[in-house]
Amino acid sequence: MRIDIVTIFPEMFKGPFDYSIIQRAQKSKLVEICIHNLRDYATDKHKRVDDYPFSGGGGMVMLVEPIERVIQQLKSERNYDEVIYTTPDGEMFNQATANVLSSKQNIIVLCGHYKGVDQRVRDHLITREISIGDFVLSGGELAAAVIIDSLVRIIPGAISDETSALTDSFQDGLLAPPVYTRPADYKGWKVPDILLSGNDKDIEHWKLEQAMEKTRIRRPDMFEKFK
Ligand code: ADE
Repeated sequence: MRIDIVTIFPEMFKGPFDYSIIQRAQKSKLVEICIHNLRDYATDKHKRVDDYPFSGGGGMVMLVEPIERVIQQLKSERNYDEVIYTTPDGEMFNQATANVLSSKQNIIVLCGHYKGVDQRVRDHLITREISIGDFVLSGGELAAAVIIDSLVRIIPGAISDETSALTDSFQDGLLAPPVYTRPADYKGWKVPDILLSGNDKDIEHWKLEQAMEKTRIRRPDMFEKFK
C-alpha cells in the first residue's frame, strides 16, 4: 500500500509514523508513506496556498490550483483508489472505514486548513471526506495521522500476532474486555480467579460477558446493534 499525504505542515508528520507498528510496517514495505509539501506546488513567488473567501466573513480558503497540481502530478504516476480530505464536516471515521481503506493499493490524504479548501476541490478532486469526531482541530494533519495509523496497523502482517488485531475493540462490534498480566496478586489487587483457572472455554465465555457488559454500559448505541 502507498499513502501520499498533502499538507502545508510536513514537519507535523515527523513523529507519528516513526514508532511501533507503523514504523515496522514501513520498514517491512507493507506500506510506503510519502509526504508532499503543498507550498512546493504554489505558482506565485510568495508560495501562496490560500486566499480570502469571496463570501467575506473572515478566515482563509485553500486555493484550488496548488492542490490540483499536486494531485494531478501524483495521478500521472499511478492510479489512486481514493483521494481523501480530512474535515470536520466529513463522514464519521470508524473501524469499518479503517478496514475498507486498509485494503486499498494507493490513497491520497489532503489535510485541510483555515476555513477549508475551495469547494471546487471537494467537487472535482476528492472522493471521500472524513471527520475523526465532532470537534474541530487546528488542521487536518492530526486527523490524517489518526486515520493512517488505524488503517496501517490492520494491514495483514503489520501486527505479528494476527489475532490481536481481530480482538481489538470495535472489530466484533463490542468494546474489548479487561486484560491482566503478572503478578496475579499486587498488594491485594487480584486478577479474577477465572483467568488463572486454565479453562479456555470458561475464559472465552468470561471475556465475552465482560465485553458485552462494558459495551452495554459505555456504548448503549453499539450494544443495540450487537443484540
Ligand atoms: N480538521 C479539523 N477538525 C477535524 C476533524 N474533527 N476531523 C477531521 N479533520 C479535521
